[in-house]
Amino acid sequence: MHQAKIINLPKILDERGNLSFFQNEDHLPFSIQRVYWIYDVPGGEVRGGHAYREMQEFIIALSGSFDVVLFDGKDEKKFTLNRSYYGLYVPKMVWRSMENFSTNALAFVATDSFYDEKEYIRDKNTFLNEIHDTK
Ligand code: TYD
Repeated sequence: MHQAKIINLPKILDERGNLSFFQNEDHLPFSIQRVYWIYDVPGGEVRGGHAYREMQEFIIALSGSFDVVLFDGKDEKKFTLNRSYYGLYVPKMVWRSMENFSTNALAFVATDSFYDEKEYIRDKNTFLNEIHDTK
């Protein structure tokens, strides 16, 4: 799990309202190719539950809160995201689930690739086999 990490973003405090941002290479260890977001998640639902072969992600709770659970084939770690001025960097080949969404949670995700279903490993045993093959 050594590569997964919380990245703190700039926070421009202003009495008119605060502002945060990230831009290519300055704050993330990759260049952004695509963004997507997850919203209107019914209580108790779990999203994700897969790994990416090469893709990396940066996940922010722009609103509300949720947990991201990461599993690298050996260790599991839970990150609670609940502020919009930091996010979680998720490297490739980590199994990740998103759960415990609050009402009105908005999960914003930046990635380094276009959407490609071939990037996904959706079966946990396949993930375990592939991760052991690469080590
Ligand atoms: P998926 O990443 O599988 O979400 P989750 O793992 O949380 O269920 O995406 C759900 C569907 O959305 C998937 O079938 C394909 C589509 N999708 C796109 O077309 N483009 C995208 O950028 C993403 C993230 C998903």
